Amino acid sequence: MNQGKFITLEGGEGAGKSTQLHALAAALRARGLEVVETREPGGSEGAEAIRALLLTGGADRWSARAEALLFAAARADHIEKTIRPALSRGAWVLSDRFLDSSRAYQGQGDLSDADILTLHRIGSDGFLPDRTLLLTLPEEEATGRARARDGDAEDRIGGRANDFHRAVADAFGRFAREESSRVQAIDASGPAEVVTERLLAAIEDLLP
Ligand code: TMP
Repeated sequence: MNQGKFITLEGGEGAGKSTQLHALAAALRARGLEVVETREPGGSEGAEAIRALLLTGGADRWSARAEALLFAAARADHIEKTIRPALSRGAWVLSDRFLDSSRAYQGQGDLSDADILTLHRIGSDGFLPDRTLLLTLPEEEATGRARARDGDAEDRIGGRANDFHRAVADAFGRFAREESSRVQAIDASGPAEVVTERLLAAIEDLLP
């Protein structure tokens, strides 16, 4: 049995990742593949418990270092309990966010990109996706979509200042430029079906 492929969707708040994850999963199932849809933080029992710790409570609930360690711990559990077993039985795994979110969000301020990658090496042996699809939208469009979805109910991290989210978008853009064989930027504007076609085209070479 062939090993499945591991695909991650990344991007800032309001880029449409969850909607596109479901649509891409449906398109792959229609081609006969078994597909597991998952998300971070979360995706396993332990990691979902850590998600609740990470996303609720006051802005200063965790220090930057504690927050980065919790994300890395959640990811280690997610990989061990959900992702690796699925890939081993030949399923494809689509994850709404993964390591690049930690690099973009936690890799600002106290911790460097190298620090985040070190935590990932310790937690998860440096395990990387086969392909990462970065959904990009102009800032105003993304903010509008996130506001329509969350209203005033943003989580601990989504509710940070615009400057923070701008720096996150810049970091994602840098990954796409510097790791272009793994990370592909996809224009997320326009009708959802068109965006799904763009995503499919960006993984066409991985399909059996
Ligand atoms: P979500 O809105 O996609 O469910 O993600 C929850 C929040 O967690 C979002 O604001 C991004 C943030 N996040 C990080 O800061 N680091 C990470 O490693 C991940 C996976 C998410």
